Amino acid sequence: MKIGIVLGTRPEIIKLAPVIEEVEARSLDRFIVHTNQHYDWEMDAQFFEELELPPADLNLGVGSGSHGEQTAKMLAAIEKAIVEQELTHVVVQGDTNSGLAGALAGAKLLRRVAHVEAGLRSYDMRMPEELNRRLIDHLAHDLFPPTETAHGILTGESVPGQVHDPTGNTIVDAVLRYSPHRDVPIGEREPFILLTLHRPENVDHEPTLRAILNAVGEVAADSDLDVTFPAHPRTRGRLEQFGMALPPRVEFAPLKSFRDLLALQATARLVMTDSGGLQEESCVLGSPCVVLRTHTDRPETVDVGASRLAGVEREGIVAASEEMLAVRRAAWDQPFGDGSSSRAIIDLLLASGTAPVLSASD
Ligand code: UD1
Repeated sequence: MKIGIVLGTRPEIIKLAPVIEEVEARSLDRFIVHTNQHYDWEMDAQFFEELELPPADLNLGVGSGSHGEQTAKMLAAIEKAIVEQELTHVVVQGDTNSGLAGALAGAKLLRRVAHVEAGLRSYDMRMPEELNRRLIDHLAHDLFPPTETAHGILTGESVPGQVHDPTGNTIVDAVLRYSPHRDVPIGEREPFILLTLHRPENVDHEPTLRAILNAVGEVAADSDLDVTFPAHPRTRGRLEQFGMALPPRVEFAPLKSFRDLLALQATARLVMTDSGGLQEESCVLGSPCVVLRTHTDRPETVDVGASRLAGVEREGIVAASEEMLAVRRAAWDQPFGDGSSSRAIIDLLLASGTAPVLSASD
């Protein structure tokens, strides 16, 4: 048995770190492939250092590009690595192009493909991530849904692989290990709002980006709070391209380490984001969150009252922010598990054996 672990972007590095740690703790034979979809120090190497990850065994150096170009380069190189390294398993996480390339290469070579964080759906087919995750779920042999909702989605779609019982989300393992604070009482928080934006459907479309930023500026003025905005490189690029200035009280900040971003989330009065990862993290940390999207693939955070789906228009954003700023006690149920997801995932993976699942026609 030799487990290939494919990752390439900031969220995959963070969410697979506890899984890699578990693999290392058991001294399993493994081979880490880093596609280098993310390559800036702030988006990549910083997290390997901070999370004390072993260096990747192979770095593909793929970088940025169109979806087809990026995915194709990864696919060819991962296929070669699987054959050369005689990998029996390929583990991918989430919904990125790196994850899709890993799953497709592994499935075509009849290796056992495992999908960590399986079964999420936004039902928004404009999102590249929605396409990726659907395809990965239908290619994978071992599916690890984080929640009952995700589990129900996978069984409802009759995916051919084995849908394991909900494992929780590995983000909880990572947050509990790295967060300096949790459940900071609202009255003791710093007077600021944390903003992140990176989804292409928000930032690549000028009127949407403008509407979101103006609404955030209005919330800042109404609530008398400053907004800290560690902007993703994609977003900075678009703002420059559109010649768009930030509204008063909204200020750029440098990209943060994982620990620093958790500290900001834990001490902010409000988190405003279009990131699924921050939506989960703020829920675990006990911080009210406004989701700057029209659909969410993490409905659990809305259901427990940790976040509010605001949409991307002024009225929705202002109303959701008012509501979440009025939350005085952030004591909601935790939908993503207790921090033991990685252990559960590796236990299940080891129990599943190495043979790929065969379809009825085989
Ligand atoms: C990708 C994932 C998304 C994930 C996000 C986390 C896909 C389809 N999307 O989106 O699901 O939530 O990562 O950040 O896989 N760039 C840099 N430096 C970097 C990386 C990117 O400058 O290190 C810039 C480049 O201009 C690039 C753009 O950001 O073209 C977008 O990067 P890309 O990897 O295509 O997608 P993300 O938007 O980061």
